[in-house]
Amino acid sequence: MTTTEQAVPVGDSSKSAGNSQSSGSSKFNERELQQKAKDHLWMHFARQSVMEDGAGVPIIVKGEGHHIWDSNGKKYFDGLSGLFVVNAGHGRRRLAEAAARQAEELAFFPIWSYAHPNAIELADRLASYAPGDLNRVFFSTGGGEAVETAFKLAKYYWKLQGRPTKHKVISRNVAYHGTPQGALAITGIPAMKEMFEPVTPGGFRVPNTNYYRAEEMGFTGSEEAFGQWAANRIEEMIQFEGPETVAAIFLEPVQNSGGCFPPPPGYFKRVREICDQYDVLLVADEVITGFGRIGNWFASTTYGFQPDMITCAKGMTSGYSPIGATIVSDRLYEPFKHGTTSFYHGYTFGGHPVSAAVALANLDIFEEEKLNENVRKNSPIFRSTLEKLKDLPIVGDVRGDGYFFGIELVKDKETKETFNDDESERLLRGFLSKGLFDAGLYCRADDRGDPVVQLAPPLTVGPAEFDEIEGILRGVLTEAWSRL
Ligand SMILES: Cc1ncc(COP(=O)(O)O)c(C=O)c1O
Repeated sequence: MTTTEQAVPVGDSSKSAGNSQSSGSSKFNERELQQKAKDHLWMHFARQSVMEDGAGVPIIVKGEGHHIWDSNGKKYFDGLSGLFVVNAGHGRRRLAEAAARQAEELAFFPIWSYAHPNAIELADRLASYAPGDLNRVFFSTGGGEAVETAFKLAKYYWKLQGRPTKHKVISRNVAYHGTPQGALAITGIPAMKEMFEPVTPGGFRVPNTNYYRAEEMGFTGSEEAFGQWAANRIEEMIQFEGPETVAAIFLEPVQNSGGCFPPPPGYFKRVREICDQYDVLLVADEVITGFGRIGNWFASTTYGFQPDMITCAKGMTSGYSPIGATIVSDRLYEPFKHGTTSFYHGYTFGGHPVSAAVALANLDIFEEEKLNENVRKNSPIFRSTLEKLKDLPIVGDVRGDGYFFGIELVKDKETKETFNDDESERLLRGFLSKGLFDAGLYCRADDRGDPVVQLAPPLTVGPAEFDEIEGILRGVLTEAWSRL
């Protein structure tokens, strides 16, 4: 729980030294790549020591469907869609061709005072998918920038309304909203922020919707009642801070960090009421939950609530090119329509022509192959397949929605006792991440909250693949228990 980095399975470069066959399109062989990585590559959210200590880093060279291959030629099930990104699956030639066509026609032009057809078409398309009057699209290059945009826009909007003191933002414990300083202020993981303090001021935290751990938050009762209780903590925080100081609340429809917390029934209805009562903007951070992950274009639709803004990225292009967006309601956009007002904010690569072209082609694939429908149809089967693992002594909880599930690991099922930092270190980093990877399943073993294994496969898979995932997890989790 003290660690913040992604548990990375360390590779074994000695096995493949000198293998020049499997380094993908690289002109360097495995040993050369490992050396260059060790000398120059700084991984994200990771311990560089895996390189320094000589074990090397797993180098992934190819993807096809829901599979990836490493530089040793070994095949893995991509149980995390890269990083909740490759929703349509790997190896789609059509998306590569869309990128190539656009790069040839117009590789780049900014949307700073200009436009290009793909940005216009994609904005129109996103507006048509977003719920209610979310009709205006501000592009960025990723999720953190989309969150940063929403934060700045919320502050500016209230200033334009003559309410300049509304600048604080509320979010939930253990929630991850990105790394820019503003987004970091919204992120609710202290261990990820302490080294960068002071972050942007004005971030306040309320309880998340982890029903499995509700008692530890001081709540006992039904899930419905927990939803009301958790939503009411937002009202309490608004009152503590003063409604005239609070600009917005940022919530993921299903919270990723901590291990896939879905909203209890009625939660978002109550949150919306509170936001309306106190004039606080509701931002749905759909960087993960958008684009089919929860069975609809946006999970706000799945849970029947109307946000004032949606932030999204990842699955929009299935990762074939980077893009992000903040989708804004007519009400929020209104003051920007007139006169000399403009939003002094932007990114050189925001709404990049190639990324926008890829997004449009990717969304075509979603429609043609009915990927959202596939998720809605199969999600209950995915859940019940993973729930079989509850017969293992180490599995405390299985939760999530759509194609997005977390399995919480515990030391004692009866008491829900979790692992201490040392055990967590040995379990997640020492064994599980590498154990799952060696067994052919790339997924996430994470301890930003309590230890969880997270699954978010491409939306193309179905029951046969769920069984495959369950089989691998069963073997590795059984062994993890025996090693404790
Ligand atoms: C909910 C949420 N918001 C924001 C981000 C940041 O997105 P990015 O890494 O594209 O900046 C993420 C990344 O995982 C996320 O899950």
